Amino acid sequence: MKAIIVANWKMNPATMREAKKLFDATREASESARNVGLIVAPPAIFLRELRARYKGKRIAFAAQSTNAEAGGAFTGGISLLQAKDAGAQYVIVGHSERRAKGETSEEAGKIVVAALASGVTPILCVGELSRTHSGEHFSFVREQLQAGFAGVEPGKIVKVLIAYEPVWAIGGEKTMSPHDMHEMTIFIKKTIVGAKGEAGMNVKILYGGSTTESNAAPMLQESGVVGLLVGHVSIDAYRFSTLINSLG
Ligand code: 13P
Repeated sequence: MKAIIVANWKMNPATMREAKKLFDATREASESARNVGLIVAPPAIFLRELRARYKGKRIAFAAQSTNAEAGGAFTGGISLLQAKDAGAQYVIVGHSERRAKGETSEEAGKIVVAALASGVTPILCVGELSRTHSGEHFSFVREQLQAGFAGVEPGKIVKVLIAYEPVWAIGGEKTMSPHDMHEMTIFIKKTIVGAKGEAGMNVKILYGGSTTESNAAPMLQESGVVGLLVGHVSIDAYRFSTLINSLG
C-alpha cells in the first residue's frame, strides 16, 4: 500500500506565485515517488487555482480547515461544499493550531460527520499538549477521539483518517520515536474499538510532528502508521522531495 503523505503548508507561502512554484516542485517530486499517495493542503485561497493547473492523478488536495455548517453567517468561515467545489477531496479537522484558537473536540466531531456526508474525507487530528510520566496523555487523546468519532456510524469509521500529532513534537527538532508511536497506534485502535466496535481495528493512522527526510521512513516502517502529516518540511521543496523519495 502507498504511504499517505499530507503536505500541510499551513499559512504559507505569501503569494500565489510562490505557491505555484512550490506546487510545481512538489508535483515534480511526486512523479518519481511511486510508493507515495500525496495530499497537498495549501491555504484555501490558493486551492482552486492549484487544483486547476494540475492534470495528473497522483496528487489529491485537502482543505486545512472548514466549518461544519453548510452556509450562513460565519464570517471568515469556509464550508465543506465550498472546499469540495474548489477541489478538496480531504479536509484536516481539529488541527492543534485550530484548537489553540478555540476549536473544540465537539466541533471537530461535527465537522467529521459533515465531511463524511459531503463526500470529503476527514483527517481528524488528535494529540496531547505535553507529556508527563503519569500517562495522562492517553486519557487526553481518548477524549479527543471519542468526541471526534461521536457521530460517526460504525460502518463509516474506516473512512476517517486519524492523524496523531503530539503538540510538543510540532514545528521543531523534537520528534517521537517509532517505538512510542507504535504504542500510541495500538492505543488509538483500542479506543476506537471500545467506542465503535471491531471495525476500529482497521482505522488508518497517520503521524505528524517534526517529520523530516531522515525520520519519515523509519516511522512508516516501525510504528504501524500508514502515513505522515508534514508541516515545515513540506514548504521546502528540496527537503520535501528528498523526504518523499526516501520512501522508495
Ligand atoms: P511540522 O512537521 O512542522 O512539525 O508540523 C506538523 C504539523 O502540524 C502538520 O500538520
